[in-house]
Amino acid sequence: MKIIKAMNYEEMSQLAADRVIDRVRSHPHFTLGLATGATPLGLYNKLVGDHQKNGTSYQGVVTFNLDEYIGLPPNHPNSYHYYMNQHLFDHIDIEEKNIHLPDGTAENLVKECIFYEKQIRQAGGIRLQILGIGQNGHIGFNEPGTSPDSRTHVVRLTESTRKANSHYFKSMEEVPACAITMGLATIIESEEIILLASGEHKSSTIDKLIHGDVHHQFPASLLKTHPNVTVIADQAALKMARAPRVY
Ligand code: GLP
Repeated sequence: MKIIKAMNYEEMSQLAADRVIDRVRSHPHFTLGLATGATPLGLYNKLVGDHQKNGTSYQGVVTFNLDEYIGLPPNHPNSYHYYMNQHLFDHIDIEEKNIHLPDGTAENLVKECIFYEKQIRQAGGIRLQILGIGQNGHIGFNEPGTSPDSRTHVVRLTESTRKANSHYFKSMEEVPACAITMGLATIIESEEIILLASGEHKSSTIDKLIHGDVHHQFPASLLKTHPNVTVIADQAALKMARAPRVY
């Protein structure tokens, strides 16, 4: 796992954007895995800016998002579909048919999970996956205890995750109880992974990621078994990490 220390959120976002842009430009048919949450907002903003200024094209890019809440339709302002449209897809030249997020309103959720896996396979797998990290070490919505062999599946969200995400909702009661998420095995099959972390509230999590053992109670630790993972974290997020090998 390579650790890149960024000065601040801005630099973290720029470094991630540079990598994505470089990959998209050199492989016009590229499969990109995307994340939601506050952390990648700066990255998406930079991708939009670059598209507008330099014309980087996403016409041949296929995307797969990590997760979606169960029960929220794509036009719900708190759905991850809506977030992605608002912050990225509506502002670049990606084709609608190339955008994939799990359907949290599917009648048969198990079938939807199997279908999502099939779509990823048919696209040839994910070349570059962007990840954020939850304070309890979750990636996507793979909560502590998730099997490393897991594929796209339905999860019941922990109270801490629901609470962490509740500021996007009017009240805690509105935060969905369940979600569909790519599994840990799905994520780990990506050719390359970039994990972003920003802010002091992530510093003990990042310390644990860098220095802790691989353990199923800390899902992100599985990334240590992957040959091509880069953590781009700002100084605040690296505050507690004891002398990481930084680049
Ligand atoms: C949610 C998402 C994760 C994300 C995490 C951290 O739970 N499912 O993919 O990494 O939140 O979010 P934030 O970036 O807002 O801290």
